[in-house]
Amino acid sequence: MTDITYRLAQKRNIVTPLPGPRSSALAQRRRAAVAAGVGSTAPVYAVDADGGVIVDADGNSFIDLGAGIAVTTVGASHPAVAAAIADQATHFTHTCFMVTPYEGYVQVAELLNTLTPGDHEKRTALFNSGAEAVENAIKVARLATGRPAVVAFDNAYHGRTNLTMALTAKSMPYKSQFGPFAPEVYRMPASYPLRDEAGLTGEEAARRAISRIETQIGAQSLAAIIIEPIQGEGGFIVPAPGFLSTLTAWAKDNGVVFIADEVQTGFARTGAWFASEHDDIVPDIVTMAKGIAGGMPLSAVTGRAELMDAVYTGGLGGTYGGNPVTCAAAIAALGVMRELDLPGRARVIETSVVSRLSALAEEVDVIGEVRGRGAMLAIEIVKPGTLEPDAALTKAIAAEALSQGVLILTCGTFGNVIRLLPPLVIGDDLLDEGITVLTDIIREKASHQ
Ligand SMILES: Cc1ncc(COP(=O)(O)O)c(C=O)c1O
Repeated sequence: MTDITYRLAQKRNIVTPLPGPRSSALAQRRRAAVAAGVGSTAPVYAVDADGGVIVDADGNSFIDLGAGIAVTTVGASHPAVAAAIADQATHFTHTCFMVTPYEGYVQVAELLNTLTPGDHEKRTALFNSGAEAVENAIKVARLATGRPAVVAFDNAYHGRTNLTMALTAKSMPYKSQFGPFAPEVYRMPASYPLRDEAGLTGEEAARRAISRIETQIGAQSLAAIIIEPIQGEGGFIVPAPGFLSTLTAWAKDNGVVFIADEVQTGFARTGAWFASEHDDIVPDIVTMAKGIAGGMPLSAVTGRAELMDAVYTGGLGGTYGGNPVTCAAAIAALGVMRELDLPGRARVIETSVVSRLSALAEEVDVIGEVRGRGAMLAIEIVKPGTLEPDAALTKAIAAEALSQGVLILTCGTFGNVIRLLPPLVIGDDLLDEGITVLTDIIREKASHQ
């Protein structure tokens, strides 16, 4: 990217052993102050971030290939976003939209009604987190249909609140011992091309789920199907072609609300504004968060007007939902995404990174699959020559990358997926360097397996 001026030097530079003394001192304070249940991927404490780098308290500069879990799509301190936040904060930080409304909220709703898939009439409500958006999407679907049941899928991740824990598939570390969970949530098999039986098409995978829905729940009791169009925490799983479209067609025929959880996949990340576009599906409701507001906590539910407007006044909301500072940030961030054509930028990243990772996959036998779309890319790590997940090796690769100054995240139902989510404003050279570090580590570690 040549048309971006960065505030911080865009370089990888490790100047202390990791963690350095300042981060170590903060870790000690943290142990005495912060609940142990809150984890962190890296033991280094951030003091600055810009473009494709994060700088820690000891002056170490890391290449950021995680974007705070797909959040800082426009960077963590884009000047347009920072200025919008400062300007809004000068005027008012809060009035509560449910008390004294303001234009920013309405403007974000207008933008999302236009940007999300489909040209039907839409309405939007704003919240604070992805989980809160999902909770509210389910509320809307239940009220609008008068039905109780909700279908979620294997490998799903929808959050950590009570209802969203019920929707999330993986027990540790998201659910174990936190139950009882919300009722009327049913789990169905998804499409996981690498691990499904050979030759299973997307349509067949969808029919497998539909036949179970019909026998175990019955369409007349089903309010909603919720699914991530590319499963995120579950392993960046791109469903087989035809899977999502078969499900949406069945949902439409049976009066079931189809909810696309685009919390992780939304806002240019996958090379389109929303991942649903890759499969040509038009969800009834879309949930969004993460990339929406340049790092500020904002989430949204956008859906068909007749569904969203079915809810009585006061049924949706929350003290902070659609906070004016976060709305100002979202308006600025969406402007940056448009101006820099970040969906196009994500497609460029896909082309360059996938070709390098695919070449590596030919060379080593610990890569089960390279997959993903746009700048939401994954490497599934396996025991040599098998499909057996290798979570330990995955962890070791991520740890070594961090020690060499490249921050990468892992995910996956089996903990064996390296996921790449760079900020879309990262420069080509820096991204290339990060991928070189990663591929060298994988090559080196694979040679010892
Ligand atoms: C698809 C999806 N839905 C929901 C959530 C929950 O979002 P939050 O952590 O903001 O509650 C996440 C978070 O990773 C997600 O990836």
